[in-house]
Amino acid sequence: MKKRNEHPDRFSSNWSERDQGCPVHCSPERLIVALDFSDPGQARNLVEQLKPTGVSFKIGLELYMAGGPDLVGDLAARHNIFLDLKFHDIPNTVAAAVRSAASLGVSMINLHAAGGRKMITAARDAVESLDRRPILLAVTVLTSMGDQEMHETGCPGSTAERVLQLAGLVSECGLDGVVCSPLEIAEIKAKVSPPLITVTPGIRPAGDAQDDQFRVGAPAEAIRSGGDYLVVGRPVTRAAEPLSAARRILTEMGVDQ
Ligand code: C5P
Repeated sequence: MKKRNEHPDRFSSNWSERDQGCPVHCSPERLIVALDFSDPGQARNLVEQLKPTGVSFKIGLELYMAGGPDLVGDLAARHNIFLDLKFHDIPNTVAAAVRSAASLGVSMINLHAAGGRKMITAARDAVESLDRRPILLAVTVLTSMGDQEMHETGCPGSTAERVLQLAGLVSECGLDGVVCSPLEIAEIKAKVSPPLITVTPGIRPAGDAQDDQFRVGAPAEAIRSGGDYLVVGRPVTRAAEPLSAARRILTEMGVDQ
């Protein structure tokens, strides 16, 4: 097995090659804007508007269902793309899906940690030998969920405990990182070894609506906790001026512009 890269800027993926010499800690690519649109035209329009900032982009289920692999491949040829399809199936199926996703040239792919050790390991093995492999992440607990919903789905204990347990499993299985809430970054960074990259949705600048997110935090807070990549959707996509909204968040993150 190849040794796991321990920091995002050591990845052979195009994620860091486009960083133009800026160390990852100050790079605008650490902000990932979620292109949550059902119209590919709207998504392309936002990408063009935000191009001067150097941010990264995320394609989730909504846009993927509208634009399919062609749109993903096209955007991935020009930008850092996180393909957020959260695979969760039997190991053979997930391994094949991860391989297909990697062939589109995306920089990040994810799956659900709850799929278990065999599934996670199969996904890792599927991309390990690739020359330019994407960063492989596992979702711990969705940022829209709290303790009550966890209990209803058969997981006793607190969300924080469950996130830490799953992060430990993900690390043992040799994945690169986890998707978690900003509230869990510090504990994962302190307690999980080998270390994991953290990618955090549930980011809300002070004063912004929480929407359907439950475990939220502000951009500066996530960076202070040691967060690596921040995912922001509606605070940018629904803003009257998305470019200014993205720039405000980058400033809050301490990114030089
Ligand atoms: O609009 P908002 O900032 O809440 O968007 C967050 C994005 O991150 C959405 O695209 C959502 O699907 C995604 N996401 C999430 N929680 C996870 C994993 C992904 O909110 N655990």
